[in-house]
Amino acid sequence: MRSSFFISLLAATSYVRAHVPKLGADGKYTISSSSIKAQFIPYGATLTNLFVKDKDGKDVDVVLGYDDIAYYPKDPGHPVYNSIPGRYVNRIGHGTYSIDNKTYKTELNDGTNTLHSGTNNWSYRTWNVTAATDDSITFTIRDEPNSEKGMPGLILANVTYSVCGDRWSIKMDAVSPSVKSPLMLTHHTYFNLDAYKNPDTVKIWNHTLYMPYSKRYLVADDGALPTGKIATAEASSINDFASAPGLPLGHAQRLQGFSSNCGGGGACEGYNGYFLIEDAPADTAVVTLASPFSGIKAELRTDQPGVVIYSCNWFDGTADLKSTQGTGRNKKVVRSSCVAIEAQDYVDGINHPEWGRRNTQITGPGQKYSWESSWTFTTL
Ligand SMILES: *[C@@H]1O[C@H](CO)[C@@H](O)[C@H](O)[C@H]1NC(C)=O
Ligand SMILES: *[C@@H]1O[C@H](CO)[C@@H](O)[C@H](O)[C@H]1NC(C)=O
Ligand SMILES: *[C@@H]1O[C@H](CO)[C@@H](O)[C@H](O)[C@H]1NC(C)=O
Ligand SMILES: *[C@@H]1O[C@H](CO)[C@@H](O)[C@H](O)[C@H]1NC(C)=O
Ligand SMILES: *[C@@H]1O[C@H](CO)[C@@H](O)[C@H](O)[C@H]1NC(C)=O
Repeated sequence: MRSSFFISLLAATSYVRAHVPKLGADGKYTISSSSIKAQFIPYGATLTNLFVKDKDGKDVDVVLGYDDIAYYPKDPGHPVYNSIPGRYVNRIGHGTYSIDNKTYKTELNDGTNTLHSGTNNWSYRTWNVTAATDDSITFTIRDEPNSEKGMPGLILANVTYSVCGDRWSIKMDAVSPSVKSPLMLTHHTYFNLDAYKNPDTVKIWNHTLYMPYSKRYLVADDGALPTGKIATAEASSINDFASAPGLPLGHAQRLQGFSSNCGGGGACEGYNGYFLIEDAPADTAVVTLASPFSGIKAELRTDQPGVVIYSCNWFDGTADLKSTQGTGRNKKVVRSSCVAIEAQDYVDGINHPEWGRRNTQITGPGQKYSWESSWTFTTL
């Protein structure tokens, strides 16, 4: 009696599962193509795992994250692992901006600035799954007006992730039907193309980075806030990833200024800044990240005019790696062991009319915001 009860319960469970094939027992939704398997959760519309082929044809999980999905909301570090910080990504200088001569105040949650919209942030929300197939999934979010947090007006947004062959695509759309609001999105993707399995180094410095259309970058202050100045990186200088393919991320490690290149009172080594993408032909790879160890090459195509490169300085070695990553010795996310690559509009462009980005960064009734990028994974 008892055992037959359990057998029918088991049968009922697998019956239900058979009709929701995308959702695994671990709470992750899986989509796949011939060479990519990608997994997502509704929290933050987060990519939790991304398996691509290495030079030997083996599957490697190339993005950071956690095995246990219950840990994402609890993680005190909340690095915005492969999720969508909205409705206005990155910094708002001094927690203020204005639209039509009305000044709004946003929360100061990053020194004297606002980061990822303060407590209005979308990377802390549980999004709704509104469509799913074998190779694509759509998440939606309804972000209510929140004027006291400096975010006026309702925003309706969605993201569709899809995979096809060796390409992972991301498409976001959003509208602000009631009033004009700041609206600027990104996908905050963290990579280590070796899945922390290189026995010689878990640091990111031997990955190579090539951004041929990114000779210019936004000069930032100690709090990673752009000053307004746009500089050109000379060949072989710290911020040069344009002059030649195959420059290691750590090519400037021995140059003076590298260990304090991203502010933090001189404590931030490497990169946490915005590079412009200029004069790139349509559908061209604008960022190429590769690693000689795994042989994996990742190419970004995007409709965005620039990209934030953050080389994971602020990881303190307390967060666990996933079970798909690391080796016996390497089990933690240590400082400078990953790189976040975030295609987006100019950081704090809402406060810099001289850059001409305000019209793109503010969306109002009758307008539609859209954002599109893809990553192609091949081998060296
Ligand atoms: C904002 O203020 C300026 C200067 O006072 C004025 O010229 C402009 O028309 C105002 N704009 C709006 C949308 O009210
Ligand atoms: C993001 O929003 C959540 C929920 O409102 C809040 O708990 C968290 O502190 C916010 N994070 C930041 C960095 O402001
Ligand atoms: C998800 O859908 C429910 C029901 O329509 C809605 O109440 C909720 O606000 C949605 N959640 C988000 C994050 O948009
Ligand atoms: C996403 O949102 C846009 C703008 O609201 C809408 O036009 C589009 O139909 C939505 N797409 C999906 C797949 O939900
Ligand atoms: C990193 O690259 C440098 C030169 O590009 C090389 O000398 C070094 O052995 C590499 N280190 C590791 C751990 O792969």
